[in-house]
Amino acid sequence: MVEHFAVRGGARLVGAVDVVGAKNSVLKLMAAALLAEGTTTITNCPEILDVPLMADVLRSLGCTVEVDSGTVTIDVPAEPGASADYRSVSKLRASVCVLGPLVARCRRAVVPLPGGDAIGSRPLDMHASGLRKLGATTEIEHGRVVAHAEGLRGAQIWLDFPSVGATENILMAAVLAEGTTVIDNAAREPEIVDLCTMLQQMGAKIEGSGSSTLTVHGVTGLQPTEHRVIGDRIVGATWAFAAAMTRGEVTVRGVDPHHLDLVLDKLRSAGARTDIGVEEFTVTMDGRPRAVDFVTLPYPGFATDLQPMAIALSAVTDGTSMITENVFESRFRFVDEMVRLGADARTDGHHAVVRGVERLSSAPVWASDIRAGAGLVLAGLCADGVTEVWDVEHIDRGYPRFVENLRGLGADISRVSADPER
Ligand code: UD1
Repeated sequence: MVEHFAVRGGARLVGAVDVVGAKNSVLKLMAAALLAEGTTTITNCPEILDVPLMADVLRSLGCTVEVDSGTVTIDVPAEPGASADYRSVSKLRASVCVLGPLVARCRRAVVPLPGGDAIGSRPLDMHASGLRKLGATTEIEHGRVVAHAEGLRGAQIWLDFPSVGATENILMAAVLAEGTTVIDNAAREPEIVDLCTMLQQMGAKIEGSGSSTLTVHGVTGLQPTEHRVIGDRIVGATWAFAAAMTRGEVTVRGVDPHHLDLVLDKLRSAGARTDIGVEEFTVTMDGRPRAVDFVTLPYPGFATDLQPMAIALSAVTDGTSMITENVFESRFRFVDEMVRLGADARTDGHHAVVRGVERLSSAPVWASDIRAGAGLVLAGLCADGVTEVWDVEHIDRGYPRFVENLRGLGADISRVSADPER
């Protein structure tokens, strides 16, 4: 059976929605568990496909992993395997984050290259050069990254770009290196802070969490821990954009609104009212949103993962917006699908110009990645007729209970299973 979402546009979204732990945090926290022998428990985990996939990667390394309604329990043996299973890693790009913990723990790591994806090429050069600075050798052999280290030593590392994945891998190797490591131009995403918090609970000595300079004093061993994942700011922001686009009123619970300071400021510039609470916020929009410009940048800049939502909003605003993508070179690919829905959008290099229209018009469209898929659904909420969004497995990878959450806010959306042979 092949599934798609059928979205009938026109509803004003109203109500409250609960958001659980961040996809981009939980996968790294699961990898961090490898750093200590014993049982680590991670709570507030999203029920999305990527979590069981990451569990498979950890099982291929000798861990016993249980995934049970929002809690992941990982039992790490005294000597985990150093070679991650090809099939598990190939299904989940983020699993490359086991590289750092394995080099630190086993002095050796073999991790298949995960390959590129629909948002553009995602090289690992900064991950590799950081690990080399710590004393590891890294080579590509038969499609796998092979890393060795007699012993890791602290080093000064300057990243060319504040890469989320490279910061995480280097950090997870440095916590068990001998001496002090300084990572300069480090990523500052809230998910990195979450990782630092868990590592600190495990006994790691890290200073500067949340800043662009991370100082890590290596320790000889870490202990397992219990940790609650931070709320998913990208999911929370998706509902905030949906509220603004449908001229609705939505309360998002379970996300730190300060992780969305810039996003909420953009929505206020577009005409929304926001009410900020503790671990919750409300977005209200009475009239047609006004056009605003967006520029994606590493945190605290506007997240590249929300660029499709910015395009979707701009498609229905009063005025013309310029959206600039600075993080992933192919992230505008889905804009052609927005055009099918009647968006007046044009891209040139890493810029998109979108002239808002009063109303979009339904069409069948295809999701090329998680966030593009969510952006297309938001556009469908503002289109005449029924929009079919296909390839929904992408959306399911990032959004737990996506359809249920939207229906709870009053959207007319359903998951349809169809037999492709018919
Ligand atoms: C993570 C997030 C992803 C988000 C992205 C940027 C996860 C699972 N995914 O991806 O949702 O969109 O951060 O916020 O957490 N780069 C290099 N060489 C490297 C590493 C990265 O050139 O060694 C480039 C990438 O191609 C990209 C840019 O740096 O253009 C940012 O990538 P990075 O921050 O590393 O993103 P990910 O960790 O892959």
